[in-house]
Amino acid sequence: MQNTLLSIESSCDETAVSIIKVKKNAEGQIISLNILAHEVESQMESHAPFGGVVPEVAARDHLAKIYEIANKALQVSRLKKSDLSAIAVTMGPGLIGALMVGVLFARGLAMALNIPLISVNHVDAHLAPALLLKQFSPKDDLRAWHDVDTITYPALALTVSGGHCHLSLLNSPTDRTILGKSLDDACGEAFDKVAKLLGMSYPGGPLIEELAKQAEKSGNINEFTFPNKPANKENRYNFSYSGIKTSVMETIRKETGIKKGKITGKDLSKEKKQGIAYAFQNAALSQLLNRVENALQDYPEIKSVLVAGGVAQNKKFRALFSKLNKPTYFAPPSLCSDNATMIALQAALSENAEGFIQHPFAKYH
Ligand code: KG4
Ligand code: ZN
Repeated sequence: MQNTLLSIESSCDETAVSIIKVKKNAEGQIISLNILAHEVESQMESHAPFGGVVPEVAARDHLAKIYEIANKALQVSRLKKSDLSAIAVTMGPGLIGALMVGVLFARGLAMALNIPLISVNHVDAHLAPALLLKQFSPKDDLRAWHDVDTITYPALALTVSGGHCHLSLLNSPTDRTILGKSLDDACGEAFDKVAKLLGMSYPGGPLIEELAKQAEKSGNINEFTFPNKPANKENRYNFSYSGIKTSVMETIRKETGIKKGKITGKDLSKEKKQGIAYAFQNAALSQLLNRVENALQDYPEIKSVLVAGGVAQNKKFRALFSKLNKPTYFAPPSLCSDNATMIALQAALSENAEGFIQHPFAKYH
């Protein structure tokens, strides 16, 4: 059974369209996978002046670009629209105006081609590349995945991005129980906000990582510390980043003598910025690791750990998580941030051997 899927992602600030070809055996297992197109257009530049994503700007940008990007994906894949067997689209969670652009475009395309439309949960989809990586690890680029072996369940999954921070238990690719979530800011969001406090642009994650690396190189790692495991008695698996962020803010106020008003980071020396970035990254990543270790302790039956989402591109994060005492699988860096390939992979994972089933438009908000 072979299907060709076009997928669309527009939940936040990336407009993305991918096309994949999937072969399944009679039991419904994926036996081969080819990524024929992987187009991602980031809106980073539009949002950078604001230090974060502006929902209205995001929706308008998607609207301006989606048609062109879908056409580009078709061109790259060398397929015709009539070769497609189904359309998959992110239904949520996400920014409603941004989602509407992708969903209505996908719906129109599916209707015109008279093919099924598959709605996909964005947070589930972040994990799909990590799940399939074990099965079809990418050789040198994403187009050539080769068979390795299958992942073992139950698995513990950490999805950590700008909009979400979820710890879940997976009994199969499509059976996910959420153990914990962020009670306030998502981890990536905290990276972005701290970067803003240090006078840097959006997205802050890679910039904080770079500053922290410089601090490490020069040995400037002991001046600051931030609380890494805020008291969180009600749940051993929930996350909280607002305390760390406030602590960073108070530290900057103390260092610069600015008691009130906006903090722009311009009165901080390069060394102070590096030291703060290092200590913040340390605190943020230790909290993630702590929650994962709690879950591994409480659920000894867990056989493997999966990690995905924008923050999972961080090299320090990958080094920390590589030391867990369970096999740990990372989404490939190029599939950590929002993209449409993960949406197609999740759609493929959630379908049976008979082909694609049209999902009801479930609420994911
Ligand atoms: O998965 P993603 O592209 O979008 C959401 O679904 O939210 O994640 C974007 C987030 C941003 O907050 C960004 O700052 C963070 O991922 N990020 C990083 C790194 N690269 C991206 N955080 C820490 N270190 C990085 N290297
Ligand atoms: Zn995401």
